[in-house]
Amino acid sequence: TDPRWEAGADLVVVGSGVAGLTAALHARSRGLRVLVVTKAEADDGNTRWAQGGVAVVLPGEHEPGDSVARHVTDTLVAGAGLGEEDAVAAILADGPAAVTRLRRWGAVFDQTAEGVLARGREGGHSAFRVVHAGGDATGAEVERALLACARDGRVPVLERHVAVDALRTPAGAVCGLLVLDADGVPGLLRAPAVLLATGGLGQLYQATSNPEVATGDGLAVALRAGALAADLEFFQFHPTVLYTGRGARGRCPLVTEAVRGEGAVLVDATGARVMAGVHPLADLAPRDVVAAAITRRMAEAPGGVDDHVFLDATHLDAATFRRRFPTVHAACLAEGVDPSRDPIPVAPAAHFSCGGVVSTVDGRTGVTGLYVAGEVARTGLHGANRLASNSLLEGLVVGTRAAEAARVDLAAGRLVSCSAAVAPPTPVVAVAERDSLQRVMSRYAAVGRDAEGLDVVGSVLDLSAVDSPLRTRRLVEDAALTLAARALIAAAAERTESRGCHVRTDYPDVDDRAWRRSLTVRLTPSGQ
Ligand code: SIN
Repeated sequence: TDPRWEAGADLVVVGSGVAGLTAALHARSRGLRVLVVTKAEADDGNTRWAQGGVAVVLPGEHEPGDSVARHVTDTLVAGAGLGEEDAVAAILADGPAAVTRLRRWGAVFDQTAEGVLARGREGGHSAFRVVHAGGDATGAEVERALLACARDGRVPVLERHVAVDALRTPAGAVCGLLVLDADGVPGLLRAPAVLLATGGLGQLYQATSNPEVATGDGLAVALRAGALAADLEFFQFHPTVLYTGRGARGRCPLVTEAVRGEGAVLVDATGARVMAGVHPLADLAPRDVVAAAITRRMAEAPGGVDDHVFLDATHLDAATFRRRFPTVHAACLAEGVDPSRDPIPVAPAAHFSCGGVVSTVDGRTGVTGLYVAGEVARTGLHGANRLASNSLLEGLVVGTRAAEAARVDLAAGRLVSCSAAVAPPTPVVAVAERDSLQRVMSRYAAVGRDAEGLDVVGSVLDLSAVDSPLRTRRLVEDAALTLAARALIAAAAERTESRGCHVRTDYPDVDDRAWRRSLTVRLTPSGQ
């Protein structure tokens, strides 16, 4: 079907979470014509569900002895040998300015009784440096403030428009997007710069902290446009989502790590500590270590496999828990759990893609005109395992930097317009059935994988995938999940070691000699 409508801008931003809105606001403030496209309501993405906060070392407001350099070290330690020091240092150094700007834009962070910023602690952090809002509702406050600014600044936001594919010049530069509008009518957004800030892909799995929109659309658009992706095997599982007993499906309420930062401990059904003797930081070990330890403990439960453990926060009195963690408290109460009296049933669930589209810390990909920021990007910050609460910060920093890079590239005449380009055909690509995909990914490619299981995933995807034209949002999403799953399992099969979030039960050790390097993926011209 031919595109039936068109619009134009200097920069099209896909996604309306922390990275996309920050980028759009920066671009707008520098005089660019910017247009945001987002496939659902503007605040439907992952950002608003973020609980713990923003990890940042603010001048004059940090814990004595803390420094950006220590934050860099903690990030590299969590990244298990694959974080890139220059990228980590560059992004974290911009953190204080990014958070200060966000506060100027209206985001209100929690303060102590003395009127300084309150700081929490999470897994892998050697200091209390996670600033938060509304107790455990940081993402909601960040999203609210950014959206209010975008509306005040008249940044146009096209809601319920889904990006299908990049528009490209014959030489391969990106110069716009093929989009489906709210009624599924195809249209073209022509722009010399396209910034993908589409977030993550938690919907690869049955149980995830991510909302329904997290289907890896940006990763698929970028791969089809010729960009490189890396580190996709490092899919992070959050150690603790609320276990509801109905069988974990869809978005599960998060139980922020900050609860452990306040002293809560993980115990199994017999009351034995899960993290004792596993890691020097015990319950505040990096997230990959905690998720793997819980998974092992559930598998070793006396009398067979357990599907959850418990987070004991009963040392906190009811009023303290409710004030500090209102979101978690409400989710617990809805399940009949009183966290000041009962241990909270929890289990790991899919949370964050540490890998993504390879980019510089300025969001530049290898494709002219294509930029990425936020979870869709692989900047080198996270390595094999993201440090808790580094992702809102990355969105704020790289969102700004990527918009600035687009502005500079545009001004320098490096980008290409393709107003006369022939409209691209609707792509016809492999689409697997979502339920089977989620089922086999959860069974064989979650925490703990082996060669045989990864083969099963590959066969199920091959069997259920059918080439389809991407004419609906659902097909766009399922195609993206299919591509992401294939890329993830290929990398997971190739990496014959365990590192960070990637746990191979048939190769349980780290192999620094062979594997202290990233695995990259690029689509062949046939799209496979
Ligand atoms: C949490 O609050 O535990 C999640 C923080 C994060 O994923 O960075």
